[in-house]
Amino acid sequence: MTDDTTCCEPAESGDRNQLTDDTTCCEPAESAPGTERDGRSDRPTNHVRERYAEIARKRNAGADQGRDDGADRGRDAETGRSDESGCEPGCGPDPIDPDERSRSVGYEDEDLAAAPDGANMGLGCGNPVAIAALEPGETVLDLGSGGGFDCFLAAREVGTEGTVIGVDMTPEMVERARENARESELDNVEFRLGEIEHLPVADESVDAIISNCVINLSAEKRRALAEARRVLRPGGRLAISDLVATEPLPDAVRRDPDLVSGCVGGVATVEEFEAWLAELGFADVEVIVEGEWDGTYEGESLPIVSARIEATKPT
Ligand SMILES: C[S@@+](CC[C@H](N)C(=O)[O-])C[C@H]1O[C@@H](n2cnc3c(N)ncnc32)[C@H](O)[C@@H]1O
Repeated sequence: MTDDTTCCEPAESGDRNQLTDDTTCCEPAESAPGTERDGRSDRPTNHVRERYAEIARKRNAGADQGRDDGADRGRDAETGRSDESGCEPGCGPDPIDPDERSRSVGYEDEDLAAAPDGANMGLGCGNPVAIAALEPGETVLDLGSGGGFDCFLAAREVGTEGTVIGVDMTPEMVERARENARESELDNVEFRLGEIEHLPVADESVDAIISNCVINLSAEKRRALAEARRVLRPGGRLAISDLVATEPLPDAVRRDPDLVSGCVGGVATVEEFEAWLAELGFADVEVIVEGEWDGTYEGESLPIVSARIEATKPT
């Protein structure tokens, strides 16, 4: 593993929360170490992006109309199935209230009160800020930041001397997060459009990386972890909340694009995470199961649990 993968920084603009289309990153060479495809499924990225764009659009529309409050929010008119809780197609509680869901995965009422209205979309499966032990003045990166909920909580921890960067590949999510940032009037949180497999972040510029229910959505998880290592400073740390499988999932589940985009089909096993992180040169690797996850497929319970994944980049 080398740290010579270069990456374009997004173009400077007067308002760093202004959405621009020029924030794409230079792709590392295909042969870069640690960037092989996982080979878990056909590239589901577009399907994943469409799903989260739709979730963001519905929430944006709801917010615009001042009705971001109903039990029918995001419910498919024909099937009645909830289609906005990104991580629960056919698994998990239904209907979902974002705050209720967040409490169930480890957030406190004071966390919910601390973030701007609408930042919490109830899409997480843990509380990575709670495990990251953030310090004032640190630079924090959130992989797959969605509406920005964890970024705003991290901003509280690192204070005005610190910086929080959220990266998300879905323009509608970035737009929403930037709108939330404007409302919050925090000037130490910024959101960048980009893929976690090609981070628009400079080498060795970040103290801590958090992520909440996103790595499972990546078709190139090992590459995303390699990118995380590239941008971490020596001694920097990973604090990831995600879903993991305690044994391999059935092929039919892994190949179903709806299950992949719903945070079910793409989950890696505990052993895969441990192996990737060790191969990439991380130290202090821990994959700790936190709780059961109510995932089913054709009536059968799936071996999926929520977990926290921690590691450090050696100094
Ligand atoms: C389940 S949501 C979680 C959002 C946020 N972390 C939270 O807890 O509310 C997944 C988010 O990750 C983003 N995402 C999925 N795959 C990504 C990738 N490969 N690169 C960047 N963002 C990605 C989606 O656009 C979506 O906003």
